[in-house]
Amino acid sequence: MSQQPIVLFDSGVGGTSILKEVVKLLPHEDFIYLADSKNAPYGIRTPQEIIDLSVKNTELALSMKAKLIVVACNTATTNAIFYLRSKYKLPFIGIEPAIKPAALNSEVKSVGILATKGTLSSELFKQTSEAFTQGIDVIEVIGKGIVEAVEGGWTAEEKFIEQLKEQLHPFINENIDYLVLGCTHFPYIIPQLKQILPPHVKIIDSGRAVAKQTEAILEKNKLKTSFRGKGRVQIYSNADNIFHIKKLIEEIPNAKVSRKDF
Ligand code: SIN
Repeated sequence: MSQQPIVLFDSGVGGTSILKEVVKLLPHEDFIYLADSKNAPYGIRTPQEIIDLSVKNTELALSMKAKLIVVACNTATTNAIFYLRSKYKLPFIGIEPAIKPAALNSEVKSVGILATKGTLSSELFKQTSEAFTQGIDVIEVIGKGIVEAVEGGWTAEEKFIEQLKEQLHPFINENIDYLVLGCTHFPYIIPQLKQILPPHVKIIDSGRAVAKQTEAILEKNKLKTSFRGKGRVQIYSNADNIFHIKKLIEEIPNAKVSRKDF
């Protein structure tokens, strides 16, 4: 019955797509979100660098009395979550691309996954993909420049949309019917993806599933708050993007956004 905060961290602003879902499902909880925008993108870093950054974020979360940590970043999850779970006692929720539902539901037996190099080359991703995609063609595309565009707020620009079109060709050529978003920044380009991909392609992101998993783990560990009022939401970023973050999280009007060095 703890009113300690749930802390989420990400390589930057993308994990706010997850924050919105957990706040919606768990409105009485307090949340802190750490946007490590100064070090974005994680997806081009080495596995050891990703682990070191995840430890730095976790140490800060612990100093803020986190009761549970959501690693709101696919790249950090796939590269660091085993290490974090072995080093720290509190529960960690990770974000794994929703390959399983896509593979189960695909009628044409061809699904796409758009993720970072760091995620697609990780052991955890390879294992998950192999476990759930027997008999399914999995078309993997490394999304280049997307995290940077979401961080910088230029996803509506023509030049970005042209670059995105080029990258999505393999999905169109291979006639996929499901596209899995394997990066928490990517829900912020769903309108652009829909504009480019054929209308029958269904896009799956992990936000709702992560929120449900967070609730289940809180219940299992008896960590759910007994407070019945509206919980607090505090976002810290270590870069000069406070205004940009405020625009991205308009759906959470009570959220406070502040600059903090970490
Ligand atoms: C990145 O920082 O490169 C992307 C974060 C993610 O994979 O969710």
